[in-house]
Amino acid sequence: MSLIRETDYGTPIRLSPERVTLTIDGQAVSVPRGTSVMAAAMGLGTQIPKLCATDNLEPFGSCRLCLVQIEGRRGYPASCTTPAEEKMVVHTQSPEIAKRRKGVMELYISDHPLDCLTCSANGDCELQDMAGKVGLREVRYGYDGANHLSAAKDESNPYFTFEASKCIACSRCVRACEEVQGTFALTMLARGFDSKISPGGTDFMGSECVSCGACVQACPTATLNEKSVIEIGVPEHSVVTTCAYCGVGCSFKAEMKGETVVRMVPFKDGKANAGHSCVKGRFAFGYATHKDRKTKPMIRAKITDPWREVTWKEAIDHAASEFKRIQAEYGRDSIGGITSSRCTNEETYLVQKLVRGAFGNNNVDTCARVCHSPTGYGLMSTLGTSAGTQDFASVDHADVVLVIGANPTDGHPVFASRMKRRLRAGARLIVADPRRIDLVRTPHVAADYHLQLMPGSNVALLNAMAHVVVTEGLIDEDYVRARCEMPAFETWARFVARPDNAPEAVQDVTGVPAADVRGAARLYATGGNAGIYYGLGVTEHSQGSTTVMAMANLAMVTGNIGKLGAGVNPLRGQNNVQGSCDMGSFPHEFPGYRHVANDAVRESFEAIWGVPLSGEPGLRIPNMLDEAVGGGFKGLYIQGEDIAQSDPDTQHVTAGLRAMECVVIQDLFLNETAKYAHVFLPGSSFLEKDGTFTNAERRINRVRRVMTPLGGLADWEATMALSNALGFPMNYTHPSEIMDEVARLTPTFSGVSYQKLDTLGSIQWPCNEASPTGTPMMHVDRFVRGQGRFMITEFVPTEERTGARFPLILTTGRILSQYNVGAQTRRTENSRWHEEDVLEIHPFDAEHRGIKNGELVSLASRSGDITLPARISERMQPGVVYTTFHHASTGANVVTTDHTDWATNCPEYKVTAVQVRRTNHISAWQEKNAEEDFSLMRLASLEEAPAE
Ligand code: SF4
Ligand code: SF4
Ligand code: SF4
Ligand code: FES
Repeated sequence: MSLIRETDYGTPIRLSPERVTLTIDGQAVSVPRGTSVMAAAMGLGTQIPKLCATDNLEPFGSCRLCLVQIEGRRGYPASCTTPAEEKMVVHTQSPEIAKRRKGVMELYISDHPLDCLTCSANGDCELQDMAGKVGLREVRYGYDGANHLSAAKDESNPYFTFEASKCIACSRCVRACEEVQGTFALTMLARGFDSKISPGGTDFMGSECVSCGACVQACPTATLNEKSVIEIGVPEHSVVTTCAYCGVGCSFKAEMKGETVVRMVPFKDGKANAGHSCVKGRFAFGYATHKDRKTKPMIRAKITDPWREVTWKEAIDHAASEFKRIQAEYGRDSIGGITSSRCTNEETYLVQKLVRGAFGNNNVDTCARVCHSPTGYGLMSTLGTSAGTQDFASVDHADVVLVIGANPTDGHPVFASRMKRRLRAGARLIVADPRRIDLVRTPHVAADYHLQLMPGSNVALLNAMAHVVVTEGLIDEDYVRARCEMPAFETWARFVARPDNAPEAVQDVTGVPAADVRGAARLYATGGNAGIYYGLGVTEHSQGSTTVMAMANLAMVTGNIGKLGAGVNPLRGQNNVQGSCDMGSFPHEFPGYRHVANDAVRESFEAIWGVPLSGEPGLRIPNMLDEAVGGGFKGLYIQGEDIAQSDPDTQHVTAGLRAMECVVIQDLFLNETAKYAHVFLPGSSFLEKDGTFTNAERRINRVRRVMTPLGGLADWEATMALSNALGFPMNYTHPSEIMDEVARLTPTFSGVSYQKLDTLGSIQWPCNEASPTGTPMMHVDRFVRGQGRFMITEFVPTEERTGARFPLILTTGRILSQYNVGAQTRRTENSRWHEEDVLEIHPFDAEHRGIKNGELVSLASRSGDITLPARISERMQPGVVYTTFHHASTGANVVTTDHTDWATNCPEYKVTAVQVRRTNHISAWQEKNAEEDFSLMRLASLEEAPAE
């Protein structure tokens, strides 16, 4: 194995349909118009020396190393900034060119530390490579002149250093921060010899930098370099895999030394990220080898007993016999399983297969229940499929972008960078969010409308926008007539046209001025291609499914589905939310969203699995917990989820878990749920297994094993062992065989195989006979369900009401550096950016309560109360407070309620009536939880453990 090096064409690939033909060093080459001479030469395999150019940045023309001669032109033009032209004749080599290039390089090297042999980038440095390429052997000027060799080093960022003495002022970092990331954190100060890079006059840590790594990637020298490379040395081989954090699904090269990951480098050919990354995928992988990893199986009879390390066989046999005992005693339906949106498709498929085939019921659910289940329901009802409509690249064609209930710069940063690029190029922006998220105003981007609605009023707002479209004659009538069910449309149009849906009628509910709603609706309907991007601020409501349907209605009535730049696009939270839903993790659906009551579908699974299957939908997670509290549900197998921290109304969740007799946890760490577990099976990180993840674009990406599972087994192997111990045989030798079975049983996956994935890089489902290489955009000529169906979306206010006791609304979310329950990111340096959860509160509400910035406050709801520090912030609107749930010790979900979406039971995390008061002590729950951390996580002494 060796290091994968992608070709660098020097300047961006141009896609013009027009082509020009030129001659370079005597060879003819034809390229799209707009291609640079440098990129055209690279197409012939001629790499012209370069320093300031790289193909993900626009050409800059500052280093002058890439000069060439062009017949009929004077001088030596820079090949990076010169577009190829028809009949141009170019020479890239001549004695005079060589002399000039050497002269340029000499100047650079005369002001550069001569420590190549001991430099951390030795062997991985473009400056070093180019010096060799131009044949530089000596520097005539000596090294004693004015130089920058004593320039200070900035080591403030936890992941990379900035060693100014090595900087050649090529500006690639500045341009990467602007063009690729869109943060504009860096500037080039001064000019000429005095020019230097500055992160806004401070150090990197104190600057606007979000640590995405784009500048480090772009830097051709060791000036910006990963600390891991400095510590471990340059990597020796690499493997392409997929980030295990968010639903963007970025591809990375895991660059390794033996079995040690030296760094994760975003892969240029990655279709979701095109070589970009965020701080989590790029740098926060250290959790995989953190000392807290539990790598030995453990069991205990009671949750108050200490854990005892055992062999895999003993743990699996114990779990299987307990599950059998419980079923014999309490009935077939008394146990169930939970799949994980962080595990691979193959692993989630196996868990649901185990539940249906070995447990003999359909009690399987997934953590997607608590985030995007309304997406499945809403899009299935209106469009006919439970997934987003576009690929990410579609946003490059959007004229109007409507972001609702999503905070892409924090939650989906790499897609946000792409979206911001389009917005900087002129697309218009509507943001509907209770908070002033970064996107509302960020460098060179400003929302045309920020509809700062009250949490819980999404449906009223969208109905009001639809009202404007219908009553002001902005309907795309041809589209609706050709593509949609007319009777349903007519009923819906009459519904939204009702006066009580007018912006003026609902502004007291939404808090958004009617004029803004009218303006935004007109812009969305008439501004050209309009794409909707949404997140959990849409789904995690009592009307989550209704909101998804309202967005689909709005897109259909304006003709904004089935074309580039449009669509209804869920931004998925976790890496494999889409995949875990696709793989049949819901209690009523087999893989491919087919109902368990469908006899033909069930028979097809029975034929391959060799067991009779139940046609009765099973229990959802909240129902399992309710049943457990009621005494009828006693055993649970949880793969890679921490419901005691992530699910709402913590005290109800833990009461359910306490009431069970056998809880099996399969995880990397002893998480909060493990406090209530009887069997612990060591989980494997994404670096330790093969498989696939499916991102928010329905894109199936390969996950490749780069190191041996620390616990000895990959997650799919552990599930197989449990299934075999239960008497339901599973005998896969590689996850590719699991995918082959998925393909055999699931029409939308019938064309998927590992071989095809390796050839194409990734595949967007449906992939079948009709679309053998996948489907980037859905509903192009017709909707998957045939005709689009408008659904009535009556606004029903949540039952969670504010009043004298609880006058404020709490809404929750996430931030860039942390991820979900924080189990991974809290075990990395990312915590430097977010050490604890805080409560954001508007200055008015804070002043009213005498609260100062940083003071401890009590946050209380009808469910419970916690204590956390306050952060006074104008991002909030009066009456609304906000926090994150990344830290188990804070316990944000102690406060959230058990209200759920009417159709899917997705919890209403986004609306909780609360009161906030100053306090000087932690809450009773936090005190008890800290004690339980100690008492329920004890480990018996290692001497008691048997040898493997
Ligand atoms: S790490 Fe990213 S945000 Fe920070 S300076 Fe570099 S490019 Fe800009
Ligand atoms: S830090 Fe690197 S990329 Fe930035 S100007 Fe210096 S050498 Fe170029
Ligand atoms: S955007 Fe998401 S998938 Fe990409 S690197 Fe960041 S966390 Fe990973
Ligand atoms: S690479 Fe062309 S001027 Fe620097």
